[in-house]
Amino acid sequence: MANFTVVNHPLIQHKLTIIRDKNTSTKAFREVTNEIGMLMAYEITRDLPLEDVVIETPLVETTQKQLAGKKLAIVPILRAGLGMVDGMVDLIPSARVGHIGLYREHDTLDIVEYFVKLPQDITERRIFVVDPMLATGGSAIAALDQLTNKYNCKPENITFVCLVAAPEGIKALQAAHPGVAIFTAALDDRLNENGYILPGLGDAGDRIFGTK
Ligand code: URA
Repeated sequence: MANFTVVNHPLIQHKLTIIRDKNTSTKAFREVTNEIGMLMAYEITRDLPLEDVVIETPLVETTQKQLAGKKLAIVPILRAGLGMVDGMVDLIPSARVGHIGLYREHDTLDIVEYFVKLPQDITERRIFVVDPMLATGGSAIAALDQLTNKYNCKPENITFVCLVAAPEGIKALQAAHPGVAIFTAALDDRLNENGYILPGLGDAGDRIFGTK
């Protein structure tokens, strides 16, 4: 599958096993989800461009590297996306954070946008859209529709970042937004009849916030 990366880092795989375990407490789930968010931030920023800068060490003048190019924005899809943001911001503290809130209309199953707040210069930023679970792809596609259609963000500036993806979600997201890169910590087997990812980790929002 094009434009799609499973981040196979041993620390990420180890931590993912912790949050998949149904006996993991809310406190540990929250902490470890943020830790994985930080490790994913490390992986998804590997290709950030650098430029030369001349500095003086206490001993000599030297040419070294600093980040160049676009500024960054992290955009969690509410509410589960919030669970990865603190960890990501720890690693990229100057990134701006936008929010996209969506829910599924009970009768029509249409996705309704109830809250969008983005940095005003979002079109000039490299954007990381964050949601731990890529299941059917419905929310991810709706969030990317918003960014590309309504806010004029270019697909090549957007990366979708999740922890667990179902093949069905990857396929749907790639079909709807072929230009958006996808990074996931795991590619699971499939969706069950209720739209949960198997083996998955359950409802990510409920486990992060200790609801239900
Ligand atoms: N959302 C979740 O939180 N978990 C799933 O398994 C699927 C969607």
